[in-house]
Amino acid sequence: MAADSQDLPEASIQNILDQDSLKWVFVGGKGGVGKTTCSSILSILLSRVRQSVLIISTDPAHNLSDAFQQRFTKTPTLVNGFTNLYAMEVDPTVENEEVGGPDGMDSLFSELANAIPGIDEAMSFAEMLKLVQTMDYSVIVFDTAPTGHTLRLLQFPSTLEKGLAKVMSLRNKFGGLMTQMTRLFGIDDEFGEDAILGRLEGMKDVIEQVNKQFKDPDLTTFVCVCIPEFLSLYETERLVQELTKFEIDTHNIIINQVLFDEEDVDSKLLRARMRMQQKYLDQFYMLYDDFHISKLPLLAEEVTGVEALKAFSPHFLTPYKPSAANYTVEELEQKVSTLRQRLQDAEAELERIRKGKQKA
Ligand SMILES: Nc1ncnc2c1ncn2[C@@H]1O[C@H](COP(=O)(O)OP(=O)(O)OP(=O)(O)O)[C@@H](O)[C@H]1O
Ligand SMILES: [Mg+2]
Repeated sequence: MAADSQDLPEASIQNILDQDSLKWVFVGGKGGVGKTTCSSILSILLSRVRQSVLIISTDPAHNLSDAFQQRFTKTPTLVNGFTNLYAMEVDPTVENEEVGGPDGMDSLFSELANAIPGIDEAMSFAEMLKLVQTMDYSVIVFDTAPTGHTLRLLQFPSTLEKGLAKVMSLRNKFGGLMTQMTRLFGIDDEFGEDAILGRLEGMKDVIEQVNKQFKDPDLTTFVCVCIPEFLSLYETERLVQELTKFEIDTHNIIINQVLFDEEDVDSKLLRARMRMQQKYLDQFYMLYDDFHISKLPLLAEEVTGVEALKAFSPHFLTPYKPSAANYTVEELEQKVSTLRQRLQDAEAELERIRKGKQKA
């Protein structure tokens, strides 16, 4: 099988642990494929080789708390049981609510925000990055929201630049109107037009700096998480193309929820799904032969809590082997005889059907 060939990149995320120049590690993919699980485990593994690690969730649905079974906030909190692993959950939409003033002003702001899609999110993302940069973590892992959303965030430097230009032109067009409105509604200067403009301008430096860092493969990489199904393959390809367009490095793919052939899988449904998965696995290997592709087994239970995350983490480093590989001679003999019996049954069934057909 292609996966076993010698010349392929190593089938693990070891390369990320080894690359000690890395500062930003994004983990993204379609909804529900295992982004939070993978980014959490990656941060745990990184905490063993790096001085200090911060994992940030930018998904409004915040599931780091679920994964680690610990409540996190928008300030970095030490993860229980670790001395150098911190977690925080930022809400990309919260900024807008905080700005909200009296009713009339709210609609003015939302109109402004609508005029520049994504501006509020981009602003709070930039502000968060600015904050995080001053904190001096060795490496920062992002558990991102499902694909579309992530790509929007990565576009934020250009979003902000466009936003700035638009606000400037609005300002020129309407002159002091906005300032008057601000006074009329008795809005604090802190929320006034100038303040917003100032903040936008202040962000420019951070944006430029971060933009440069995100495009530097020594500092930044993007780990794509997926499952062996059509939609996920499709989404991964779209993601990889977009990342290439934004010049963001990516060379790791984690294929999660893989059904391994555990010999004793009896269910026809599971066998059928395995065949389906194999088809997409083959395509992943074909399309991404220059990527480090890791496969993770689908477990019977969820992966929540530090212990479960730790227990799952070895699969990130050593390719998973179905349990058949660990059987004793006696167990294998038993299996062979069961399989032989099953084969005989199937042959008898086939014979019966053939005979039936001949009669008909
Ligand atoms: N290999 C696996 N085997 C069994 N359960 C898994 C596996 N990987 C993840 N899970 C479970 O599946 C659920 C979804 O995983 P996770 O939250 O990591 O996905 P996500 O991509 O972050 O989802 P979302 O898009 O909603 O943020 C979780 O309950 C997690 O514990
Ligand atoms: Mg998640």
